Amino acid sequence: MNVIICKDKRAVAKEAYKLVRQRVMCGRAKVLGLPTGSTPQGLYQELVRGFKKGEIDFSDVHTFNLDEYIGMAPQDPHSYRHFMDEHLFSHVNIKWDNVYFLDGLTADIDRECARYEEAIVSLGGIKLQVVGIGRDGHIGFNEPGTSLTSRTHMITLAQSTIADNARLFFGGDEEKVPRWALSMGVGTVLDSDEVLMLAVGASKAEAIQGMLEGPITSMNTSSALQLHPNVTVILDEAAATRLKYRDYYHRIAPGNEEAMLKYLAAARRKAGLE
Ligand code: F6R
Repeated sequence: MNVIICKDKRAVAKEAYKLVRQRVMCGRAKVLGLPTGSTPQGLYQELVRGFKKGEIDFSDVHTFNLDEYIGMAPQDPHSYRHFMDEHLFSHVNIKWDNVYFLDGLTADIDRECARYEEAIVSLGGIKLQVVGIGRDGHIGFNEPGTSLTSRTHMITLAQSTIADNARLFFGGDEEKVPRWALSMGVGTVLDSDEVLMLAVGASKAEAIQGMLEGPITSMNTSSALQLHPNVTVILDEAAATRLKYRDYYHRIAPGNEEAMLKYLAAARRKAGLE
C-alpha cells in the first residue's frame, strides 16, 4: 500500500483531490465509489472548487455510494443521499442518472442488494473506490465480524458507529440513528480497480494501525485492503501516530519510483547498457 502522511486534514483533502482529479481526467476512473461522513468533506470541497475552476469534469462520471441507512428516504436530511447532494452532486456537472445509491426504503433487501451489484458490473466495475474508516476499522458499514468476501448486504451498526454518526448527522441524539444500513460488502470494495482510503484524527489511529500493520481479520474489515494490489492511504499526522513503520512509508512515498528509475538508468549507463 502507498501511505501518504500529511500535516493536517486540509493537506489530506488536497492530496486526495490531486489523485481523484488525475484519475478522472485521464479517463482511468469514470466510475467512482464514494463515502459519506466527516472525512471526505474536504475532498468534496476541493472537487467542487476544482470543477468551478474548470480543472475537473463530471459529465461522464458515474458514482456509486458505499452505503445508506435502512428506513431513510433520499430526501431526508439525514440520508446519505442528501449528504452527497449537498456536499458534491448539486455543485458539479454530474448527470443525475449517473448517480447510483442504495434504496434505504426498499421492500426487498436481497433484491436491492443484487440490483446494486449488477449495476456496478454493468458499468464495468468501480475504477476508483474512495473509503473512510470507522473507529472500529469498518469500511463501508462493514462492522467487525463481517465476512471479508461479503457482497452488498444489510448490516446492523455497531454501538461505536451509532455514537459517531449521531454526532455528525443527528444532533448527538443516538436514539435517532437507524440501527441498520445497506452497504457494499468488503468483497465489493476489493473488486474495485483502485482504492483510496482517507483518515483524519486521533480517533482513527488504532484502526489505521490495525489496517496497515495488523493481521488480516474480519475484526477490522479495513485490513482486507492488504489483499488489494492498488491502495493509497492518505492520513493526517494524528491518524498516523500509532504506525510502527512510518519511516518506511515516507521512503516509499510518491517520488520514490522516479528516484529508483533515475538510479537504475544511471547504473545501466555505467554498465554500458545505454
Ligand atoms: C460512510 C462510510 C463509513 C465512513 C466511516 C468514517 O459512507 O462508509 O465507513 O467512512 O464511518 O466516518 P467519518 O468520516 O464520519 O469519520
